[in-house]
This record gives sequence, structure tokens and C-alpha cells, in this order.
Amino acid sequence: MATDIIKLTVDLAERSYPILIGSGLLQDKALLQQYLGNRQLLLVSNETIAPLYIDTIKSAIGGQRQDQVIVPDGEQYKHMATIESIIDGLMASRHNRTTTLVALGGGVVGDMTGFAAACYQRGVRFVQIPTTLLAQVDSSVGGKTGVNHPLGKNMIGAFHQPAVVLIDTDTLATLPQREFQAGLAEVIKYGLICDAEFFVWLEQNINRLMERDEEALQYAIARSCENKAKVVAADEREGGIRAILNLGHTFGHAIETATQYKTWLHGEAVGFGMIMALDLSQRLDLITAEDVSRGENLIRAAGLPTSPPAGLPDIDAMIELMGMDKKVIDGQLRLVLLRAIGDAFVSSEFAIDQLKQTLRDCLNRSA
Ligand code: NAD
Ligand code: GLY
Repeated sequence: MATDIIKLTVDLAERSYPILIGSGLLQDKALLQQYLGNRQLLLVSNETIAPLYIDTIKSAIGGQRQDQVIVPDGEQYKHMATIESIIDGLMASRHNRTTTLVALGGGVVGDMTGFAAACYQRGVRFVQIPTTLLAQVDSSVGGKTGVNHPLGKNMIGAFHQPAVVLIDTDTLATLPQREFQAGLAEVIKYGLICDAEFFVWLEQNINRLMERDEEALQYAIARSCENKAKVVAADEREGGIRAILNLGHTFGHAIETATQYKTWLHGEAVGFGMIMALDLSQRLDLITAEDVSRGENLIRAAGLPTSPPAGLPDIDAMIELMGMDKKVIDGQLRLVLLRAIGDAFVSSEFAIDQLKQTLRDCLNRSA
């Protein structure tokens, strides 16, 4: 049985749900029975994660019927064809409206499983079992589900909250270091946008996190989820404040698109995007040079890139790509900026020349 499980709640009235964080959760028969037992289940995972963890879950849940769909691994499979294959699995095994889909994997599996659950018979229950750091601190919480369209990332989707998020920190033992570091970018994001005290803790404990110290990891995951849960509870459908969760993302998405998603992982692009957001915030006299250095030093200490990838187009083309962002309203580019470490807001009040200067300075850096 898992010990010392941390329990948080995403407070959304009738759609509220718990987040459980701990070591050994997937072997905890009583716990899995509580959330997954005595139900029709469809386990969804991918070719990399299923061989590592699916049997552990199956044997912990025990006897009842557990169907499974194993999808190929990769962001390039986060599309409608994979959703159809999950729905085919549900139909072929005659799942009814009381079924539960279980997402076992990173953000790609989680986003797709959630979307299939939102669509099947107009919405069925689903459970998130995230296995990457990024999914544990970000994508499994908050109910954003969906897939990519050939012309844009995450353009097809639905808000559909899970019934529970089960975070077994032991699964991080098999996560490649680069993926782990990409997840740290989202952890640092919470310190920058809304939790100055956590930012200081991260500055003091980044080396423990890089060594995957269990106690430090559980604390960082819980504090990140707590911050995300607060923002989601305040603005479930991103009418306002939830947009601060996208600090660095508009800059980062432009880099990912310009390099056809082939060069950097999402978290790496977000890390460098946050450096650009810090730079612009200082240019607008919102934060000090010291704040910028602190942000950048922490991003560097997390093993994330602090200079741009090769092969980016010119500044005007980058601004054009930034204009594809979902935060653009009536043609107006809006960015998440900082008033201080721990205090983010969304703004369109910057001159295009100031944005161009940030891009020029950051994108001309050498490694
Ligand atoms: P991912 O799901 O592609 O996982 C990264 C890689 O790690 C994959 O190859 C995966 O098979 C492997 N992996 C996962 N867990 C492992 C483990 N424990 N051991 C060994 N290998 C493991 O990537 P990700 O970074 O988890 O998620 C990125 C996706 O999340 C993107 O599609 C992004 O759009 C989405 N996202 C969604 C939200 C949201 O709110 N819904 C937020 C952020 C990101
Ligand atoms: N990852 C951004 C959000 O959940 O809103």
C-alpha cells in the first residue's frame, strides 16, 4: 500500500475531483479498486508506456473486464485517426455510458483519452494516470482535452474534467532526462506566474529536483498541482485568468512551429519562451534586471536551453507565427507578462517595436 499520499482537490462544484500524489500508487490495490474497481474499463496507453506499467495496474485492479487500446507513441499521432481507434475499441467491446476510460501516459495520451471520453456517447467518465513530469504538473489537471489539426496544434478539443488524477511518482524513474527537464519548465512556470515563495524554494532545491530526490519531487508536483487547481477553479474555461498558465507559450509555440516541432520538446520551447517574456516585461519597466537573471538562472539550472535553436526565420516571420496564438482577440496579440516574480497578467499593452527588440535580442544570442 502506498504511504503518505498527498490529496488535493480541484474545486469545480459538481465536477470537483481529487488529485492523489505519492510513491507506489499503482501497486495500491485498495486505492485502484476504489477509483477503478467494479466498472467497465478501457485502458488507453502507448507502445512505450504500456509494457512498463499496464500489467501492474491490471493486476492491482483485479478480476473484472479491462479492455485496452495501445496507440503509437508520438505527438504526430495526436490526431483524429487515433481518436477513432479509441472509439473503435469502445464500440467493439460494447462499452456503455457507464464506462471509464483510463489514460496511462504523458500529455499526448492524456489529451487524446480525455477527448475520446468527451465524445463517446456525448461524454463518459475518465481517469488520468500521468507518467511524465509535464503531465503530472500540468496536462492531467484542468480538463483541457483534444488533438491537433494538420494546420494547428490542439485546434480540436473539449473541456472535459477527469474523475480523479492518480500521480505515482515512481513512474518518473523510467522517464528520459530530457523529458524530465522539459517538465521542470512547467514547474518553474508556476513560481513565475503566481507563487513567489515556491520560486524561492525552487532556486534553493533545483539540484535536488535534478537528482530526482523523492521528497523534493513530491513537494514540487503537489505545489504545482495546487497552483494549477486554484487557477482552474477560478476560470475553468479560460475566460480570463487561466491564460496566465500560458506564460512563455506564445513565444514557444512560434519556435516550435518554425522548426516543425522537430528540434525542441514543448517544455524546452516554453522555458526559452519564458526568458523572452521576462525580457519583454523588463523592457516595459515592469520587472527588474535582477528578476530577469533569477528567472533565467533557474531555467538554466533545470538543464533547459537559454539560447535559440538554429534555423529560425526572421523577426517579422516569428511575429506572424505568434499571431496564430489562441490568445489573439480581434487581431490583437496578447501576451502573458510579469509585474513581479509570482505576479503574471495578460496584456496587449506593448509597442510592436518593444516586442521586436525582445525577439532580436533573444533570438540572436549564441549558445
Ligand atoms: P508525451 O506524452 O509525448 O511523452 C513524452 C515521451 O515520454 C513519450 O515518448 C512517452 O511515450 C514517454 N513516456 C511517458 N511516460 C514515460 C515514463 N514514465 N517512462 C518512460 N517514457 C515515458 O509528452 P508530454 O510532455 O507528457 O506531453 C506533451 C503533450 O501535452 C502535448 O501534446 C501538449 O499539447 C499537451 N499538453 C496539454 C496540456 C493540457 O492542459 N491538456 C497542458 C500542457 C501540455
Ligand atoms: N496548460 C494550460 C492550461 O491548462 O490552461
